[in-house]
Amino acid sequence: MINKINLIKIDIKNFQIKNSKDLENFYEKFISKKNIINNFFINLKKLDLKKKKAIGILLNNIKDVAKKKFKLFNLKINLNKNNINENFEDLTLPPFCRHEYNGGLHPLTIIRYEIISIFKKVGFSVLAGQEIEDDWHNFTALNFPKEHPARDMQDTFFIESENKFLLRTHTSSIQIRVMKNNNPPIKLISTGRVFRKESISSRTHCIFHQLEGFYINKNISFLDLKDILIYFINQIFGNKVKIRFRSSYFPFTEPSVEIDISCLICLGLGCTLCKNTGWVEIMGAGMIDPNVFKNCNVDINKYSGFAFGMGIERIAMLKYQIDDIRLFTENDIRFLKQFNNI
Ligand code: PHE
Repeated sequence: MINKINLIKIDIKNFQIKNSKDLENFYEKFISKKNIINNFFINLKKLDLKKKKAIGILLNNIKDVAKKKFKLFNLKINLNKNNINENFEDLTLPPFCRHEYNGGLHPLTIIRYEIISIFKKVGFSVLAGQEIEDDWHNFTALNFPKEHPARDMQDTFFIESENKFLLRTHTSSIQIRVMKNNNPPIKLISTGRVFRKESISSRTHCIFHQLEGFYINKNISFLDLKDILIYFINQIFGNKVKIRFRSSYFPFTEPSVEIDISCLICLGLGCTLCKNTGWVEIMGAGMIDPNVFKNCNVDINKYSGFAFGMGIERIAMLKYQIDDIRLFTENDIRFLKQFNNI
C-alpha cells in the first residue's frame, strides 16, 4: 500500500500542466470528490490502528502536495490568460529560454542551505574546510593513537604511499584547524564532502557530505549539546519526530552519543533505511575530549566544548522521503525536477 501511495505522489509531481484542460484533468484526478487518493482512505478502515495512523498521515501529506500544485498552476495559468494566448510561444527568445525545464538547486544544496540557516539563527558561523588532509589533522590530533583499532572505523583513501596525505574521512578535521588558529569562544559549523572506502548501496556511498559543528567556551556542558541538537532536529523535522540519544564511542569526544530519530520514510512500519527498526541514526556527538584540546593548545582548565557531525544525505533522505542514496548522484532529471517544480 505504501508503495502505491508513493507512486501517486510521483504521479502528482510529474503531471504536466500546460493549459487549463490539463489543470482540469489534474483537479479531476487528484482533488475532486472522486479523486484517487480518497480510495485509499476507504481501504484504511480495514487496517489496525498503528498502520491506520501512519498511512493516514502519508495520505494527508499527499493531498497537501496535490492542493499546493493545483493552487500554483491555477495562478500561473490565470495570469497567462490575462496576458497572452495560452499556446503562444515567443519565437524571438533565444533557444535556452524556451526549453521545458529551468535549472534549479540540487536537493543536497537546498538541505545544506536550510541546515546552515538553522544553526546561524543560534549564533554559529560557517567556514569551509579542505578535502585533502594529512594524517595528523584527520586522525592523530583527534586522539586516534597510531595503532589504535579505532582507526579501523574508517577505511581511508590515502593519496600517497607513505600514508601521510589522504582524502578526509570526516569533517572533524576542521575542529583541529580552527582550534589551532583561534582562541575560544568558538561557535562554528562547516560542511563538505568526505570520502570512505565503503561499498555503494541504497544506504551508503564512498563519497558523501557531512556537517560538523562545535562550540567551545567557558562552562559548556552536555546540557548545552542536548539543547542545540534538539532545537536543530525540531526545526528541520518538526516537533512530532521522536529523538533518542544512545551512548557511543568516538576517540575525540567523551562522553559520546549517537542520535537517532523515528524513521520518517516508513513511519515505523519498517524499511531498508531504518533496517526495520523504526529508528535512523542521524548524527554523532559528544563533549570534546581533553586530549584533543591539549593537541590544539586549548586550556582545559578554562574551556570545555561539544562537537557534532551529521551526514547531509541522510538528513535529506529523511526530510524528502528518499529511500536510495544513489539517486543524489545519478543526475536523473525525473528525480531532480521534483525539487524545483512545486
Ligand atoms: N566524525 C564523526 C563521524 O564521522 C561524527 C562526529 C563528529 C562524532 C563530532 C562526534 C563529534 O562519524
